[in-house]
Formats: sequence, structure tokens, C-alpha cells
Amino acid sequence: MSIWNEATQERARSILARYPERRSAVMPLLYLAMSVDGYLTDEGVAEVAEWTGLTPAQVLSVASFYTMYKREKKGKYLISCCTSLSCMLAGGDDVLDAIEDESGVPDGETDEEGLLSVEHVECIGACGGAVAVQVNYELIEGVTPEKGRALVRWLKEARPAVVNPDEMQTLFGGRTSFDWAIKEEGGAVGPFPAFQPLGTVGGGEE
Ligand code: FES
Repeated sequence: MSIWNEATQERARSILARYPERRSAVMPLLYLAMSVDGYLTDEGVAEVAEWTGLTPAQVLSVASFYTMYKREKKGKYLISCCTSLSCMLAGGDDVLDAIEDESGVPDGETDEEGLLSVEHVECIGACGGAVAVQVNYELIEGVTPEKGRALVRWLKEARPAVVNPDEMQTLFGGRTSFDWAIKEEGGAVGPFPAFQPLGTVGGGEE
């Protein structure tokens, strides 16, 4: 018997239908479990095991390998600052310092209110637009320390229900990668990746 509501089970069924083997759906189902609880609980892991036919230990071995599967509750906004090579050379450590300082949240931590989490991340594939920062996995490129501070203040004050990458890029970004072109209407509604059908609003069909 599933612990997920009918809508979540329907999403799980649509994810499973994309794969010839149930076990192949383990990663999107882990994101689905995260979208239910905001992070990956033991119950979520057990649920994914049920849906995939894997054991909870096998599911956990996948989840523990990837840093984007969070085992602890995160804030409403997860700010991820890249400090890998291209971003580091463009001042990524200074941007991270500024975000930590403005938010009062050290790298890897969440504030007491549960509003902001801050983390440094390895390359997020936006090296051409270094320094790259994400909020709930929605990308901003060309971020400076001052823009990073402004981003934190905006999240604290505006508390947007949906974080949209184009809006944040306009407000807080700078130089973008060559392929920053496709306009996105939707965005993320929580601190987990907004892959369809998870957490994205207005972002197109599933
Ligand atoms: S090094 Fe930062 S996005 Fe690649």
C-alpha cells in the first residue's frame, strides 16, 4: 500500500511507463519522493523500492552516490554556488563568501527559519557563464559578490512562490553562456529539481 497520494502515484505510474524495466526508473522516482517530503526520507526510499522492485538498500546506494538527493530537510530556497575551476577563476569563492555573509548561513547549512540553505557545488555545466549560481536548481550566470548579496536579500524579502531562471538572470546575472536562449515560463517550487512532472509550473507539457 503506497504512502503517496493518488496524484503522486499517477506521476509515479507515468514515470514508470517510460522505462522497459521498473528498476530503471529509480532516479526520477527518487526525485518524486523528494518532491513529496522536500527531502529523501527513509519512508520515501522504501516507497521507491516498492515501485521499482529494488531493495531499500539498493535504492539508498543510488541516492547516496549523488549529492542532489538530499537526506536532510533543506530551506525553501537552496542556493548552490559553483566553486569549480571556471567559476573559481572568475571569483566563485568570493561569491560564495558574499552569499554566506549576507544570509548568515554557512556553506552546507540551513537557517533556523528554514528559509535559506547554502551550499557550494561542483561544476553545474554553465562554465561559459561563470560564476554560476542556482536557486532550487534554477540557474543564474555571471553572478558577482554584490549580485549574490542582492539575490539573498531578494529571496528574504520577496519570497517568490516560484523561482524563474529568466527573472533571476535579469535581476542578478551577468554574462551568460552562448546557449542561454530558450525562454522559460516556469520555475521551481521547492528545493528539488523541477524536472517535469515534478515541481515545475507553467513549464510545458509532461
Ligand atoms: S565550473 Fe562552474 S559551472 Fe562549470
